[in-house]
Amino acid sequence: MRSSSLVEDILKDITTTLNPMIPRASREAQLLLMAHLSCDELWLMTNKKSEVKDVDKLFQWVNRRAKNEPLEYITNKVSFYSEEFYIASGALIPRPETELFIDEVINNISNPHAKITFVEVGIGSGIISIMLALKFPHAKFIAVDISPAALEIATINIKKFSLEDRIELRLGSLLEPVKEHIDYLISNPPYIANDTDLESNLLYEPQNALFGGTIGDEIIKELLSEVLKRNINFFTCEMGYDQKDKIRNYLKDTKSEDLNFYEDLSGFDRGFTLKL
Ligand SMILES: C[S@@+](CC[C@H](N)C(=O)[O-])C[C@H]1O[C@@H](n2cnc3c(N)ncnc32)[C@H](O)[C@@H]1O
Repeated sequence: MRSSSLVEDILKDITTTLNPMIPRASREAQLLLMAHLSCDELWLMTNKKSEVKDVDKLFQWVNRRAKNEPLEYITNKVSFYSEEFYIASGALIPRPETELFIDEVINNISNPHAKITFVEVGIGSGIISIMLALKFPHAKFIAVDISPAALEIATINIKKFSLEDRIELRLGSLLEPVKEHIDYLISNPPYIANDTDLESNLLYEPQNALFGGTIGDEIIKELLSEVLKRNINFFTCEMGYDQKDKIRNYLKDTKSEDLNFYEDLSGFDRGFTLKL
């Protein structure tokens, strides 16, 4: 039994439980309690003497976090490009650097009212297709994933943003389920080499969202070969920080002005666009 369930005491108890396994334990305590109470930081700071209900449920979350399960899987919420999305363990947690992917695509399309067909390979939680559907209101999207669990999570997010009429989901591998003409192919595929040792928090994420093959870039190359075969006008793809040379080499017959690499905010190579 806890001696007190006041906000200030619960915050101290969570911090003690998370220390020393979780860095910035007192901040994580605030985030867990804010999610539990569905309140913001201002409320938390100004209501330290308020009583917290359902403390047992809260501490089930805290114990999961103490085992390094990502906060996003525990609270089922993740923020991406200033929007809040549903997330659960069947899909990769969106990474902040993928926001630059959205900017890269936006920069490539001069007409925001373009009636084009985007195809996404590996939709995961849905963040990329959903954000681009919001930016390009006349575009239509076909999105593929090999994981039924990921497609379930994408379905929830597509419904949340009322985009059921514009984003069609298909279960399958790469472009195999897409026979239609594609104007713009987009993908943040798995690109880590299969034998990479993962940090413990990454072990909670779906492994087929992370590992891209023995070298790591196999899926990217399969997509590139489809782009060349089908003559797809635009392809934007996220990649690993050390894959630029391999991709440039694979595309050595392509004019350099048709291949643009972009970096993340730390200056690491992060993705590219191929224009045919
Ligand atoms: C790195 S995650 C990206 C998820 C989401 N688009 C994002 O950016 O957060 C890669 C996704 O590709 C899916 N995937 C892996 N192999 C695939 C394949 N052969 N065909 C289609 N999707 C695949 C995984 O299930 C996962 O959802």
